[in-house]
Amino acid sequence: MPDTIDQLREQIEAESIESAEEAEAFRIKYLGRNQGEIPDLFNQIGDLPPEERPEFGRRLNALKDRAQERIDEAKARLERQTQAGGPDIDLTLPGRRGFTGSTHPLTQTLDEILRILRGLGFSTHEGPEVETDWHNFTALNFPPDHPARDMQDTFFLKDAPEDEDPRVLRTHTSPGQIRIMEAHAPPIRVAVPGRVYRNEAISYKSFCLFHQVELLYVDENVTMAQLKQVLYSLARALFGEDVTLRFRPSYFPFTEPSAEVDVWWADEDADDGGQWMEILGCGMVHPNVFEAVNVDPEQYTGYAVGMGVERMAMLRHGIDDIRIFYENDARFLDQF
Ligand code: DAH
Repeated sequence: MPDTIDQLREQIEAESIESAEEAEAFRIKYLGRNQGEIPDLFNQIGDLPPEERPEFGRRLNALKDRAQERIDEAKARLERQTQAGGPDIDLTLPGRRGFTGSTHPLTQTLDEILRILRGLGFSTHEGPEVETDWHNFTALNFPPDHPARDMQDTFFLKDAPEDEDPRVLRTHTSPGQIRIMEAHAPPIRVAVPGRVYRNEAISYKSFCLFHQVELLYVDENVTMAQLKQVLYSLARALFGEDVTLRFRPSYFPFTEPSAEVDVWWADEDADDGGQWMEILGCGMVHPNVFEAVNVDPEQYTGYAVGMGVERMAMLRHGIDDIRIFYENDARFLDQF
């Protein structure tokens, strides 16, 4: 007779309960007061030798609980299925992972730069990618036919009307300075992010398009010391508290004095111990630039900065070839 309980248990476990009707049939079959299998067995306890009765009763009670549990489970499951809109969905299965894209590493770095700059008081403005020659060069104190224009290999737009200023793909975000000052009187504190284009030989370190962020701060009594402070704050937030910067005197037509800034880059894998990497150009806004946009250089001073976003992203992630940002290779992009 003890085997009967084992057999009954197997039978109970094997039942499938897929509807409310089946649940009720299961209940009647195994637990029904009138001829249910388990109550039937309870009725037979009296036929057993007295010493076997307690153990048999205990096991039978456990089986009864298990049968009730199966009914409860099935009902809960059926209820969930109804809520989910149909019996095809088993919400207890592990989910299937959908493919989600991620933000491009350049966009991540750009967002991070702009986030830090917002904390330093810079709002964000964008300018056009197709610029007039005047905004891109002349107003920034590049004299006509001056060799300084050769610093940047320019893409000119074809078919510009003869009486109009030539149109160029902007070679830097600096014309953003001009556009802001045309539209707003000082004080000004803006960041201008954007794509820039240069007709350069493509290699691991230069591509025909890349991204810059321009900074412009114009007010009374703006100093180079403030410029340095802002650049240190930015570099610390981007590269870590112990970052080392080097300011090198340089030349740009639109700033005087001008500097280029390098960051000390210690690469554990390289045997040279580290090197200076240029990250940006900067300086005090040239009076001729102010005059081009009718800002009084006697009253106002300002600083300007132009930084390369690719360069920053390469340093942050240890990337050694700029072209990889533009190849859309999922094996690269998936890592970010
Ligand atoms: N526009 C320069 C370039 O693309 C970078 C630059 C240098 C921007 C100095 C500035 C600056 O605002 O002050 O090479």
